[in-house]
Amino acid sequence: MTRYAALMRRIETQAPSLFSLRAIPASSLLLFLPALASLLLPAGCKKSIPDRPIGASVHIQAPLGLPPVPIPPDNPPTAETIALGQRLFYDPSLSKDDTLACASCHNPRFHFTDGLKFSRGVGGETGIRNAPTLLNVAYQTFQFWDGRALTLEEQAASPIADPIEMNQSHEVSVSKLNRDPVYPAMFRKAFGTEDITLKRIEKALASFERTILSGNSAFDRYQYGGDKTALTPQQVRGFAIFINPGKGNCAACHTVSPQYALFTDGKFHNLGQGVGEDGSTFADPGRYHQTQIDTDRGAFKTPTLRNIANTAPYMHDGSLRTLREVVDFYAGGGNSNPYLDKEIKTIHLSGQDRADLVEFLKSLTGDIPPNVGPPAKDTAAKDPAANE
Ligand code: HEC
Ligand code: HEC
Repeated sequence: MTRYAALMRRIETQAPSLFSLRAIPASSLLLFLPALASLLLPAGCKKSIPDRPIGASVHIQAPLGLPPVPIPPDNPPTAETIALGQRLFYDPSLSKDDTLACASCHNPRFHFTDGLKFSRGVGGETGIRNAPTLLNVAYQTFQFWDGRALTLEEQAASPIADPIEMNQSHEVSVSKLNRDPVYPAMFRKAFGTEDITLKRIEKALASFERTILSGNSAFDRYQYGGDKTALTPQQVRGFAIFINPGKGNCAACHTVSPQYALFTDGKFHNLGQGVGEDGSTFADPGRYHQTQIDTDRGAFKTPTLRNIANTAPYMHDGSLRTLREVVDFYAGGGNSNPYLDKEIKTIHLSGQDRADLVEFLKSLTGDIPPNVGPPAKDTAAKDPAANE
């Protein structure tokens, strides 16, 4: 794109000013009235635009080792909403300067993380938390390290407007998408009309995210597929340590169930990670931020361990660089503080035990579906001239 085209595009993106209506003949003003009314009327009076997907719902097949994918009743996934969500997920026009997509921080090349300690938002703004993988995010009952959103639908719009992430108001996002040559038709196919609303954007993103699954790892083939040769003897020893309450005790929080394994209990625990020099205050209050309950200080959501060998650095603050550092951290009983979880205590692990645990964690890297990468290129969509 030339500098001029980029500039024009920037200008076009500004929300239209109400004052500019004065320069417009009265006849065409009439055309604007419905839009104007919807801006001025309180939300409750707006004519509601339906956001239920209209297409046939598709079955998202869970791979070996994962339970059936939970689907909210008001957002059954369809081929059209998934394709729309995929395009949105990889589209930098949802960010203020057209440089960042969801996939910039949840990059398939890094197993849907960014490989950084802290994510970098628009203009290089640095966040305060490590970007979690979106693999198997479909199963989460809380989103974010502190659980401040519950559903994927509820979560999806927040990074767009977040000043340290994509930093673009929802109104601007909607108007940019409206000017795109492809989106209006995609919204019509997915939801019945060309209207682009935040609710529809959220639903499409969530449906796409539900397809980002990873299972059928060596561990799954060993544990659930009946292939006892899938793990090495060292990994089998590591697994025994992982589930033994008197040894690693890892499965107390990174759950392994009889039919499947999510490697998370979906709950919040304090390991002492990020506690200050004084041994009681936390740079990041974690779950406390949400609940204001004292014992939630420094507690974070248990992350999944699937594909963990590929998602360094680790912890909410990205402070541990290798799996060996993580295992050493647990062996030392975390960091003591008044809110330390009762399941965290000094554990005796020999050098061999630690190496075995790390090898076991490497067996949790599974298959990622082939069709969750960037959508096939449609060059027209990114050519600003095509809009006129
Ligand atoms: C600038 C980097 C960045 C961008 C861009 C970004 N994210 Fe994130 N994402 C993060 C970080 C960091 C977190 C963790 C934040 C926290 O816990 O407070 C996160 C958390 C999430 C979570 C919760 C995952 C979990 O395990 O709790 C979901 C889902 C998610 N992002 C989806 C998206 C979607 C969809 C988009 C695009 C609309 C997006 N993200 C854009 C960095 C980013
Ligand atoms: C009391 C519950 C609990 C137990 C027991 C536990 N974990 Fe964790 N695990 C967590 C929580 C919570 C986090 C995130 C903590 C944070 O970021 O501050 C975490 C983070 C991790 C991470 C980093 C994940 C990421 O994506 O950054 C790894 C790896 C890990 N645990 C492995 C283990 C192993 C191995 C064991 C056993 C030796 C174990 N855990 C025992 C709750 C637990």
